[in-house]
Amino acid sequence: MDIFEQLREKAKEEIKTVSSSKELNDLKVKYVGKSGEITALLRGMKDIPAEERSSFGKKVNDLKDEVSTIFDEKENVLKENELNEKYKREAIDITLPGKCPEVGNLHPLNLVKNQIIDAFMGMGFNIFEGPEIDTDYYCFQALNIPKDHPARDMQDTFYFTDNILLRPHTSPGQVRTMENNKPPIKILSPGRVYRADDDASHSPMFHQIEGLVIDKNVSLCDLKGLLDEFVRIMFDRETKTRFRPSYFPFTEPSVEVDVTCCKCHGKGCNLCKGTGWIEILGAGIVNKNVLEMSGIDSNVYSGLAFGLGIERIAMIKYGISDIRTLFENNVKFLKQFNRR
Ligand code: DAH
Repeated sequence: MDIFEQLREKAKEEIKTVSSSKELNDLKVKYVGKSGEITALLRGMKDIPAEERSSFGKKVNDLKDEVSTIFDEKENVLKENELNEKYKREAIDITLPGKCPEVGNLHPLNLVKNQIIDAFMGMGFNIFEGPEIDTDYYCFQALNIPKDHPARDMQDTFYFTDNILLRPHTSPGQVRTMENNKPPIKILSPGRVYRADDDASHSPMFHQIEGLVIDKNVSLCDLKGLLDEFVRIMFDRETKTRFRPSYFPFTEPSVEVDVTCCKCHGKGCNLCKGTGWIEILGAGIVNKNVLEMSGIDSNVYSGLAFGLGIERIAMIKYGISDIRTLFENNVKFLKQFNRR
């Protein structure tokens, strides 16, 4: 064997034993690199007789090409193997269940508030939101509750000064609307209200929605029809209302409104304490004094008003026995209202 064949065979054998790209690269340098064994042959050219030099040179270059090709082929094989190894190592089990993103839901009070608003919006009401800090005039006097009126006791209240307080109800919304709008008026005034009360069914901060309709010939029949439709939307189509005579300084006559119990449908159960009825709101025909004080001519117009507690409706609707659970923000409790 001549030197060319020897080198070729040696290179082939060594290439066979290589198992990584790194080793292969080192070996490549050893043979065809700048100071590699095959490249070294070219440096010996000066000792070759002149007439053999060109054929010797050609042989060296042919060998170099041939060996380089073997290196390239081996490199392709190694690269493919290494890639397959990598795929195996990094394989993802796509049959594993994915992580489901947790989606929040509305707080039950917002849920119920939206349902109430939807029900009345469908009957043509607009929304007016008044301030949470208000004056004695709007909270009481303009609602026919003068200073020292005993009805103020019902709403034991948080005062900042003698004249400025956290509103104890959303009824001031009626006054502000009448002062700034001409009849016909149909508004709903939702918001937070505050009273010095705290037990299983009362919270010092809670939510109300006030309703007001002012037009010609508005009567108690309109109030009954309106509330009948509201409770049918809010609870179920079979729900009925009942008016009981009551007293509010801002309405005359005044009523308290009961609905047939949504749990037993009037038969009597623990929710309705055996009566078949549950009180849901206060209402009445707007007192003429209230209309006049806010600039509405009570000889031409009359009005109906109602005020309901959102917590109370939510508690009845969802069978919640303690109002405080609505404010503790226990996620286990709140998740039950996820309706998806
Ligand atoms: N403002 C009353 C309360 O907080 C609720 C109320 C009763 C509002 C009768 C009204 C109404 O508009 O007509 O207890």
